[in-house]
Amino acid sequence: MNKVKIPETQFNVHSLIKKRWSARSFSEEMIQENDLNTLFEAASWSASSMNEQPWKYLWATRGSDAFNNMVDCLMEGNQPWAKNGSHMLISLAKRNFDYKDRVNRHHMHDVGAANTTLLLQAAEMDIYGHMMGGFLMDQTMDIFGIDGDQWEIACFIVLGKLDDASKLEEPFKSREEGARSRKLTSEFTKKLS
Ligand SMILES: Cc1cc2nc3c(=O)[nH]c(=O)nc-3n(C[C@H](O)[C@H](O)[C@H](O)COP(=O)(O)O)c2cc1C
Repeated sequence: MNKVKIPETQFNVHSLIKKRWSARSFSEEMIQENDLNTLFEAASWSASSMNEQPWKYLWATRGSDAFNNMVDCLMEGNQPWAKNGSHMLISLAKRNFDYKDRVNRHHMHDVGAANTTLLLQAAEMDIYGHMMGGFLMDQTMDIFGIDGDQWEIACFIVLGKLDDASKLEEPFKSREEGARSRKLTSEFTKKLS
């Protein structure tokens, strides 16, 4: 584990939150299906408006046609490293509530929360993931037969076991080796009275 990725924080943030980061260097080791199901179940324990659970994951294992098709749907800057992951997920958000088919304006919010819950569980299990918004929308919808009236694609997520940053080409190697940073809490909070 690249220690520089564990940030120094202003306050006493939980070690699991500090441990999760968006890795790019993945080893050949495959994630076991039981572990993958643990991640999916963790995601399902996320909160959601009306407990609608508007998430769906399409997933594929490295070596399968579906995995290769998913890699082809990624933008060029994501393909060189994401192709080495053990599993690739497409995270979908259901646009309408099951109840009376009403618009669920929280669908992307709730799916984002589920994705983060999944990745925190993964970090606890020494599995690393990287969410990607850099993908070809139309190609993904076409290839995987996603009904855009019902579903919105939130992101792709690649999962795998960590490998050394040195195996990456530039500019990905430097990004993998670089420290992570965040805004100060004072920059995004405002006390009201
Ligand atoms: C919705 C979303 C889309 C993202 N898209 C990409 C992407 O296409 N390519 C990439 O390299 N990183 C992508 N990222 C990762 C972010 O760049 C990363 O989370 C951010 O720099 C903070 O780093 P950390 O996750 O290691 O804390 C995305 C993250 C999110 C949440």
